Amino acid sequence: MAGRVQDKVCLVTGGGLGMGREHALLLAEEGGRIVLTDIDEAAGQKTVEDVNAAGGEAVFIKQDVAAEAEWKTVVATAVEHFGKVDVLVNNAGVLRLKTIQETTAEDWDFINDINTKGLFFGVKHILPAMEKAGGGSIINISSIYGIAGAPSAAAYQASKGAVRVFTKSAAVEYAAFNIRVNSVHPGVIATAMTADVIADDEATQALLGSAIIRRPAQPKEVSWGVLFLASDESSYMTGSELVIDGGYTAT
Ligand SMILES: NC(=O)c1ccc[n+]([C@@H]2O[C@H](COP(=O)([O-])OP(=O)(O)OC[C@H]3O[C@@H](n4cnc5c(N)ncnc54)[C@H](O)[C@@H]3O)[C@@H](O)[C@H]2O)c1
Repeated sequence: MAGRVQDKVCLVTGGGLGMGREHALLLAEEGGRIVLTDIDEAAGQKTVEDVNAAGGEAVFIKQDVAAEAEWKTVVATAVEHFGKVDVLVNNAGVLRLKTIQETTAEDWDFINDINTKGLFFGVKHILPAMEKAGGGSIINISSIYGIAGAPSAAAYQASKGAVRVFTKSAAVEYAAFNIRVNSVHPGVIATAMTADVIADDEATQALLGSAIIRRPAQPKEVSWGVLFLASDESSYMTGSELVIDGGYTAT
């Protein structure tokens, strides 16, 4: 039986750990051919090995998403290997928990260079590869922190808010190329990014804020949403926000 993204070439950034790894595994399980990038070579190679061991097809390219020149190499290598790119999951991201008063210019630049500028480079440089495919789906990973305020994540919140509206700009501009662009807004997810906080029950409850479902999600609970946006099942969705947050932003 054909998978939900059968033979689609899916480029996933930051696929070594956490949600990116899970997105790659699920997309591959559903027939996607994976180009996986990460700044962490060992972690990225491990995900690729696991995809291939499970009967999928994946290649790894080391990449710092904040380095524009590397994007050009990544897209060229993906096209060389698979002929085109159908899906881009702009997943790589970093967090530093700091108040505005604690945030330095270096913190601001580090976070925004990766979460926002790196994502912009991806949307910019993927275009020729998606044109070759006759269209595509770009999935930009934002956050509930791109929608609502929270303590101690000022620079991160600015980066994820930018991703939210930039996604809508891209949806408008790329419609001419038959490319859909949507953002995903995960709530509190159990990954390396949140591991320190989630290790403590009281801190976890505080982090969950007003979430209706009082637990962190597993990465795969977000991957199902990414799979939907990657597949043709979401053919009428562009410029939208897919919120997967246990009701965090509902109350
Ligand atoms: N964990 C959460 O609760 C949560 C909630 C909302 C949104 N998010 C977002 O989801 C995405 C994935 O987060 P996660 O929790 O899986 O994080 P994670 O820290 O578990 O994994 C992030 C991955 O990105 C890679 N990476 C970091 N900087 C990179 C760079 N410059 N270039 C390429 N790769 C780089 C890391 O090596 C790692 O493999 C991020 O964009 C994050 O902001 C996370």
